[in-house]
This record gives sequence, structure tokens and C-alpha cells, in this order.
Amino acid sequence: TSYTVRVEPIGADVTCRDDQTVLDACLRDGVWLPHACTHGTCGTCKAQVLDGDIDLGDASPYALLDSERDDGCALICVAKPKGDLVIEGEVDVEDGVEIHPVRDYSGTVDALDDIAPNVRRLIIALDAPMRFNPGQYLQLNLPSGDSRPYSIASTPADPTHVELHIKRTEGGAATEGWIFRELETGDSVSVSGPYGKFSFRPLRDKPVLLLGSGTGLAPLKSIVAHLLETTEDTGWENDVVLYHGVATRADLYDRDWFEGVQDQVDWFSYRPVVSREECDGRQGRVPALLTEDFPRAGGNTAYICGNPAMVEDTLKALMKARLFPRDILREDFFDAA
Ligand code: FES
Repeated sequence: TSYTVRVEPIGADVTCRDDQTVLDACLRDGVWLPHACTHGTCGTCKAQVLDGDIDLGDASPYALLDSERDDGCALICVAKPKGDLVIEGEVDVEDGVEIHPVRDYSGTVDALDDIAPNVRRLIIALDAPMRFNPGQYLQLNLPSGDSRPYSIASTPADPTHVELHIKRTEGGAATEGWIFRELETGDSVSVSGPYGKFSFRPLRDKPVLLLGSGTGLAPLKSIVAHLLETTEDTGWENDVVLYHGVATRADLYDRDWFEGVQDQVDWFSYRPVVSREECDGRQGRVPALLTEDFPRAGGNTAYICGNPAMVEDTLKALMKARLFPRDILREDFFDAA
């Protein structure tokens, strides 16, 4: 059975099956609503149900409080319609940010390489071009039918190949059970995407701070590569400073590539941040070294991507340095594994 979901305030009507989440139906129809985890845990997709019956699904009690349930709120990434619905969401999209409908793609493993201890680069050749904004993520379907989110490290310039950086998690069904064990070049895989609000804001004419830890480097690499590819058209010359936080020097994957970009253009600077040993005369974590280098950060746009603790600490460091929340975009990597 399918129902109609009306999305206010824009008044868009979207058809949604009773076994489909409201968010999925909207994203596939090109109606963009805010979302991040797509698993009912972060609360980003909270929407008000103005009319109709909804199945709240597997919404975390922390992300959707009892009082909010009573007030008619739902997490639309897990909620499904039980009849026609009217919902109200935060639909505004920043100028210059394109909306790309979510689609399903099949593909084959084009390359699978170890690039750091417990980190693999997976390149998938897609059967059709995927349009996305630099910084967005996709869902990789596991043989079990489950899926896992991974940020895209490549750029929209080659829309039939996507590069993912995958960290092994002990006991993880996706990583230890599949990607690090039996997945091979030539295997068939399937993905859907693009997802997420974490993406490069093309119309902001400001310097950029890119702050990543571990494989949180992936979407930041996409942004740097995209700026590099488009600089002739855009005339980009604002400073872009990238911090990559890891535990040991061996974890600094793609260092050569970033140093190559640094040699090639004036606007880019690459700063490796290593916590357990010294690197280029420094040692520490991203928030601390950032504070050393940028006691004042106002006037930048910052993009943070890493585990939730790193993201929180970096966010605090930036706000202390007088950067406003509207100038900070964040992507939290949960160890879904
Ligand atoms: Fe995170 Fe829905 S709760 S996107």
C-alpha cells in the first residue's frame, strides 16, 4: 500500500509505501530534508506530524523524547506512514547546494587496497553515474541485507567511480566479517545515495578549515579534490587548511597526495596531527593543535568529521576561537562497523 505524504511548508506531495520510511520516500523524490545517521539515533531528521497516523519505528528514546512523541514529533528516517500524512520539516537548503535524489546503484569492486593499518580503500565502479555534493555519503549494502554508511572520498567529476575509506572494527559484520575478509576485486556490490547535509558550501567566499580524524578524512579529501578540479572555473583562492588526526604516523594515509596538492597550489595547507608520537616536530590531537594555530578562527567555514568525541572537542575549540555554529558543519562517524 502507498500513501501520500505532504511536506510543509513547501507543500510537496510525496508517495510513500507503508514499508518505506518517510525520509527515504522524500529523498528519492528529490525533496531534501535534514538527516545524518538515518538510523533513528541522532535526532537530525525530527519532524512534526501535523496530520495522519505514523508508525514511529525504531526511534531511540534519547533522540525522540516521550514528551516529543506526545507532541506529535517523529524521526522520519525510521518512521513509516500508516495512512496519508502531513508533516512539517526544516526544508531550507543553503544557496548553491544542489539536491540530488537518492537512487539505488549496482557496481563492481574496481580496487581494494590496504592504505594504513586496519584501513582499506574501496573503489566501486557504478553501473550509472551518481550525482552528489563533495562531502556526502552513501549506504553500502552488505550481503546480509543490512547497510553501512560511508563518506565518498572521490569527487562528482567522475560520477561512475566512488572511493570509500573503510576502517576495520573488531567483530564488525561489515568490516571484519566481509570487507576485510572475503570481498575481492571484481565482486558485485550495491549502494544507494547520496545522503547527508555535510557537503561543501559552494557560494561561501571564505577560507576553509577541514578537520578530520581517522577515516573522517574521506569527505574532506573529496572537498579538496573538488576544489582542485574546479579551481580554473571558480577562481578559488581562499585558504584551505586540512588537519588529519591519527594515532601514529603509519595511520597518515594519502599523505603523499595531500602534500602533492600543497606543492601544487598556494591556497592549500596539509597538517598531519599525530597523538602517540611526534610528527614534523609536533604531537597532539586536532582540537589542541588547532587552538595553537588558530586562537581566532572567525571568518572561516569549518568542516569537522570524525568520531563523536573528536567532533565535540573540535567544535568547542572552534567556538572558543569565535567561530559561530552557522559556520561549522559536522559529520559524526559512529562505529557501526
Ligand atoms: Fe538521525 Fe534520523 S535520527 S537521521
